[in-house]
Amino acid sequence: MTGNSQASIRPTPIRQADAAGIASAAEALRAGGLVALPTETVYGLAARADSDRAVAAIYRAKGRPDFNPLIVHVLDLAEAERLAVLDERAQRLAEAFWPGPLTLVLPRRAEAPLAAAVTAGLATVALRCPAHPIMRAVLAAAGLPLAAPSANRSGAVSPTRAEHVAASLAGKVDLVIDGGACEAGIESTIVALRGDGGWQALRPGPIAQAQISALLGPPSDVTLSASGTGIEAPGQLASHYAPGKPVRLGAAAAAADEFHIGFGAVGGDVTLSAEGDLAEAAALLYAALHQAAAAAQPRIAVAPIPDDGIGLAINDRLRRAAA
Ligand code: TXA
Ligand code: MG
Repeated sequence: MTGNSQASIRPTPIRQADAAGIASAAEALRAGGLVALPTETVYGLAARADSDRAVAAIYRAKGRPDFNPLIVHVLDLAEAERLAVLDERAQRLAEAFWPGPLTLVLPRRAEAPLAAAVTAGLATVALRCPAHPIMRAVLAAAGLPLAAPSANRSGAVSPTRAEHVAASLAGKVDLVIDGGACEAGIESTIVALRGDGGWQALRPGPIAQAQISALLGPPSDVTLSASGTGIEAPGQLASHYAPGKPVRLGAAAAAADEFHIGFGAVGGDVTLSAEGDLAEAAALLYAALHQAAAAAQPRIAVAPIPDDGIGLAINDRLRRAAA
């Protein structure tokens, strides 16, 4: 191969999620490398959470503002307990939804082995115990908590396939493990448990707010965060998931210069779900936005999506894509 001499950008190796691939991923992570891994929500860009150098590499690869903290992925509840304080409410949520697409914002333990940049200086840490068998196999083989934001350039459309990662982070990641398409397709629900006994949903996701309320009662009134900036979860910045073209929402029909993403009876150039199934729509959302970004049309139109269940999370992402 002469590729090394002619290209300044390293090719991004994509490997199958067989035993050898998982072992290489764990080895690269232990050595402080960056590995993109499939989860049940989106692909994550993982690094060992206890290493300042490895975590700094995540921020660099994503071009992520350094005030935006990362989610730490743990194999089980015992590992979560070593990093954060889980009160009785947290235990109940973990029991109900872990492993799975729920992230809990909890008080971090002072002695927890976490790089400072993981929490961006906050007294809390966001923990998630993922369900995806490949992510779990790598967590087990590495034997370390892994910091992992979505594996895309900051502010861009999230990846739900290995090819999306390779396209967004070409040359910036040591290894991509291919686990096929992500099942849920949108990022985990983030719940912050407050010291006053209240809770807030910081990001809608696959676990509906009603499922949390059923266990904890209604959420607290929304107030600004302690810092007073209101961006405690800066992933919630108004513009995010941006496909690089204007996006028009609630479009039952499209103009000639628009790539149309359909849903239900609205056909479109591609559909999120011809049957009007919201779970299917969530799973296909980011792939459709990637396709729309690459299409010839200079604009994107998206069919109306009902605002219930996971539709709330889909519309949350679409509003930010359109902002
Ligand atoms: O499904 C997911 O959660 C994916 C997969 C890879 O697990 N990860 C993900 O990570 O979406 P990321 O970094 O793209 O989103 C992390 C979100 C951001 O909105 C961030 O601001 C918020 O979590 N966050 C992290 N730590 C926090 C903390 N201590 N307090 C409040 N928000 C926090
Ligand atoms: Mg993200």
